[in-house]
Amino acid sequence: MARSQWGSRLGFILAATGSAIGLGAIWKFPYVAATNGGGAFLLIYFLICLSVGLALMMGEMALGRAAGNSAVGTFRDLRGGRWPLVGFVGVLVCFLIYSFYSVVGGWTIAYIGKSFGGEILTSDAKELGNIFNSFITDPVMPLVYHGLFAGLTLAVVIGGVQKGIENLSKFLMPALFVLMLVLIARALTLPGAADGLLYFLTPDFSKVSGAMLIDAMGLAFFSLSLGMGIMITYGSYVDKEANLLSSSLWVIALTVLTCFLAGLMVLPAVFAFGFDPSTGPGLTFVTMPAVFAQMVGGQLFAVLFFFLLLVAALTSSVSLLEVVVSFVIDEFKVGRKAAALGVSLLVFLLGIPASLSLGIWSEYTVFGLGFFDLLDFLTSKLLMPVGEVLLAIFVGWKVWPVIEAELSGGARAPAWLQAMRGFCRYVAPALIAGILVHNL
Ligand code: PHE
Repeated sequence: MARSQWGSRLGFILAATGSAIGLGAIWKFPYVAATNGGGAFLLIYFLICLSVGLALMMGEMALGRAAGNSAVGTFRDLRGGRWPLVGFVGVLVCFLIYSFYSVVGGWTIAYIGKSFGGEILTSDAKELGNIFNSFITDPVMPLVYHGLFAGLTLAVVIGGVQKGIENLSKFLMPALFVLMLVLIARALTLPGAADGLLYFLTPDFSKVSGAMLIDAMGLAFFSLSLGMGIMITYGSYVDKEANLLSSSLWVIALTVLTCFLAGLMVLPAVFAFGFDPSTGPGLTFVTMPAVFAQMVGGQLFAVLFFFLLLVAALTSSVSLLEVVVSFVIDEFKVGRKAAALGVSLLVFLLGIPASLSLGIWSEYTVFGLGFFDLLDFLTSKLLMPVGEVLLAIFVGWKVWPVIEAELSGGARAPAWLQAMRGFCRYVAPALIAGILVHNL
């Protein structure tokens, strides 16, 4: 069977951007940036995305297109030996991340419902904390929403590359930007918004430290969906004419812009109502509803906000599932529908202990971590950096001529390609090894 292809370059860019923009950009970025030196963090984050991030993204896309295969097969076709293991780690990471990503995706659906019901429209942050806690520790409801979210993702992936993923992205990504702009307009016109803006943008260089750099790098690679075979898989559906430099530049620019916009959307509102931005992950599910409760028309804005979060999460989870499904289709010659159903079922099952570990199973821990946190640690702190270092070495040292041919179209290597090679050969492995050592 012929390999699936994107219908248009725009579709490809939006799908890849959809993968990148997710809970990382909208949930994590605002509070991490706010508590890590504001503008200073922003600057460093942007620089990382545009240097090493760009090099690795182009590298992944070029690998996938050169081989025309999914994550594992790409390494096998281009080099063989033990390298396919790197692809395999990527597939595994996608599988593991998807299981708890889907649990959180389910929370966003639940919160759309809770916004409609008006239940969370109170400005009492304590009560909101209780609502959030009793929801995520409940043994049943989060699993229902987890199943719902995984079902939505499944439906898109069964639809296929063009009809499912591409069409969804072409429709939802513009919607995401419009929603953000509406919410930002609301946030910035609140009295007191300026303080939040200043807090977010003023660079505090005293906060620059090794740990902060490592946070910035980790978040950059996570939010660009790098090092786990996603851009390899998406790259394998790109036609030979498409320019991968400009495509990756688009993806990175849109992602970075979204992170910035997410800060503009969240922080001024948080400040305007006198909340503390350093509440961390709870900012989204606890502080934001309190903010909406105090706005005129807050209910509408709450629904829009959680819908936006759902959209961001869905276009990312689709890419996580697609990597695994594409691997199963190519390696085991299974049809798309069967592959997607099988993988989804397994992911759903794995998500159950992840969700329960926040509640009734919280006393079962490994290395002091509940199952949810263990999955997060194993993937984002351990396996992702390992995959990224190996990817950078593979691109920079093992198959560079293939990459160069794929990206330069046969012409003499332009300066940006040489810079990219330097990033892949030296800078990326050194930086990522630093992250790894720090995490351990
Ligand atoms: N990039 C996505 C986000 O920011 C998360 C993600 C990571 C998706 C890795 C796919 C792969 O939420």
